[in-house]
Formats: sequence, C-alpha cells, structure tokens
Amino acid sequence: MPALENLNLVPFVSVEKMMDLVLATGTETFLTELAAYIEEDFRRWESFDKVARVAAHSIDGVIELMPASDGRLYGFKYVNGHPKNTKTGRQTVTAFGVLADVDTGYPLLLSEMTILTALRTAATSAVAAKYLAPNGSRRMAIIGNGAQSEFQALAFKALLGIDNLRLYDLDPSATQRCKTNLERFGFHIEACSSAEQAVEGADIVTTVTADKQNATILTDNMIGAGLHINAVGGDCPGKTELHRDILLRSDIFVEFPPQTRIEGEIQQLPADHAVTELWDVIVGNAQGRRSDRQITLFDSVGFATEDFSALRYVRDKIAGTAFFDNLDLLADPDEPRDLFGMLLRRQAAQG
Ligand SMILES: NC(=O)c1ccc[n+]([C@@H]2O[C@H](COP(=O)([O-])OP(=O)(O)OC[C@H]3O[C@@H](n4cnc5c(N)ncnc54)[C@H](O)[C@@H]3O)[C@@H](O)[C@H]2O)c1
Repeated sequence: MPALENLNLVPFVSVEKMMDLVLATGTETFLTELAAYIEEDFRRWESFDKVARVAAHSIDGVIELMPASDGRLYGFKYVNGHPKNTKTGRQTVTAFGVLADVDTGYPLLLSEMTILTALRTAATSAVAAKYLAPNGSRRMAIIGNGAQSEFQALAFKALLGIDNLRLYDLDPSATQRCKTNLERFGFHIEACSSAEQAVEGADIVTTVTADKQNATILTDNMIGAGLHINAVGGDCPGKTELHRDILLRSDIFVEFPPQTRIEGEIQQLPADHAVTELWDVIVGNAQGRRSDRQITLFDSVGFATEDFSALRYVRDKIAGTAFFDNLDLLADPDEPRDLFGMLLRRQAAQG
C-alpha cells in the first residue's frame, strides 16, 4: 500500500494481474476463500449501509452503479449488461470497482471486476446453495453456457462437491466451449439438446441466460419436488427466466428485497409476496431447506455487498505481492491547497 510520500498512488489490479492472481491461487481455492468473505459480510449484514443499485436503462442494455459501506470501507462497482454485445465481440457484462477508506475518502484499490464479478456471482450462488440445496447434491444443470457458466460450475464443485453437469444453451457452440473448458476439472459432463433434458435428474438447476426481455427458460412441469433453483440470469426489470407458476411452488430466498422486487424473478409476483433474506438464513434467524420435497429458489440479482466483499478479499490477497500496479490516480501537491501551483510547476518543468 502507498507510503505517506506516495499518496498519489493507488493499487490497481488489471485484467492481466487478476488472471495471474486467480491462477496462482487456484480457481477453486480463490472461489472458496472469496465465498468465505462474502459469507462473513452477510453475517454482519446489519452493519452495512445498503441501497438498491442505481440503474440507467437503454434499449439494448443497462449501466449500473453499486455502492456499499460498512462505515470503515466504502466500495462501488460500475457494471453493464448488454446481451447483444457478444455479436460484436464484446462481453455482455463488464465491470470495474473501487474500495476506499471512509476516514479520508481516499481510494485504497481500483480493480478490474469483469472476471471478479463472474467469480463473486458464482461464489454467492454456492454460499446460498450450501444452505438451500438438497443434502448430498452432486448433479447440476446449467442453462445458459456463456461467460458466467464455468465459474458457476467450479464454485459449486468447490463448495458443494458438484461433479456432474448437464449443460444446455440455445447456441450449441456455447455448450461445446463450456464443456471443453471444464473437462480438465474432473466433472462428468453431458451436453443436452433442450432445457428439459438438462433438468432431468438434476439436484440443482442454475439458469444463467442473457436476454433483454422476459423469457421462460424453466416451465412448471420441469421442476420436480426437492429441487434447488439458482436463478442468476434474470436481474433487470422486464428480464426474467422462470415461469411464474414455479415461483408460487417455491420458497424464495433473496439478497436485498428492495432491489430484488424490482429486478428479480419476483417482479412477477405481488410486492408483498413472502420472501426470505439470505443473510437471515446464514445467521440462523430463518430456516433454509426444511424438507426433501421443498423447492428452494435463490432469486439472485447480485448485490453491492458481494462486490464489497470481493474487493476486500482482493485487497487482502494482493498485499505484499506483485499482483498489482501502482496507479498515479490522485493529485498530491506538496501543500494540499496548492493544486494549481502543482500544475504551474509541471508547466515550468516542461520548459
Ligand atoms: N445475478 C447476478 O449476480 C449476475 C451476475 C452476473 C451476470 N448476471 C446475468 O447473467 C446472465 C448471463 O451472463 P453472461 O455474462 O454469462 O452472458 P453471456 O451473453 O456470455 O451468455 C449468455 C448465454 O445465454 C444463452 N441463452 C440466451 N437465451 C437462452 C435461452 N432461452 N435458453 C438457453 N440459453 C440461452 C446465450 O446463447 C449465451 O450463450 C446475464 O443476464 C447477466 O446479466 C447476473
């Protein structure tokens, strides 16, 4: 971290450094450690300043700002969601974020968060599933085999022991890529030709498709008793993945109700439909899975505390390593009020 004479410098984790950090740690270890930070922050839920994210919607996508603070640290993430982007070689979701010191307001970390978002989303899904999925779950269907999918598979392997995957995507080449990428991790993987086929025999179903509108990835007849549904892709107003009838048969668990009511699957339900907050389950205020026949649904939309946890984890992880660069981000004149003088001295130095 910068010494006092280097107040201009902020540790910066580029995409390259993030990849090196994840690979040096081991992806599954990274997911497990990150999940522990996420769970720890869910345990102190009440100490956070929380707000639903600020979303700017356009015809083809959304740009969102996601802030959270525990009174000592403040974090925010910039993230977009543009399902059409992959057609022009871009990611559907890209992100970066900042962690700052509340006492001084000075940033402590600037980080890429495209990879980190995929990791934190998967880690959060797996934390929820620890409390909600049937005991001894081994088999997971993943519907939507895009950028997030392999991370989901690995988080469920690391935290729950999932070793059997059933993959389906509208685009068979996405399924093939996902299967090839995951083969080296010791899964038994079946590429399926429909969502119905993928769900057959699964203990857990993860839906992680991208669309700009309401879709019906899962219909009621596909969902048998005892299943855990990890619904990740429906995360915007007007963008859902599950048929409403499934919601009516499920016990629904959410991150932050004011945000999920607007963005999650439950936007299809009346505003007073009963849901359980995930943090309540984690601290033991509420029950997670109660029976073998119960259908549990984690209506994931992604919440700012998870990004805060991810930034906090990365900051701890890079301390004393070479997995960051120092970025000349903050103006730091010798006399704090002489900002303009610093500009003049720069001009003089340029001759
Ligand atoms: N809940 C969260 O915290 C969170 C975090 C990150 C991303 N997301 C959301 O997850 C979704 C997926 O993100 P991504 O980065 O993997 O996107 P992506 O564009 O890389 O992949 C999406 C995949 O879904 C497939 N698909 C679309 N419609 C389908 C359908 N009807 N049936 C089967 N497959 C279908 C596409 O062919 C594509 O391969 C996005 O909607 C994103 O906003 C949620």
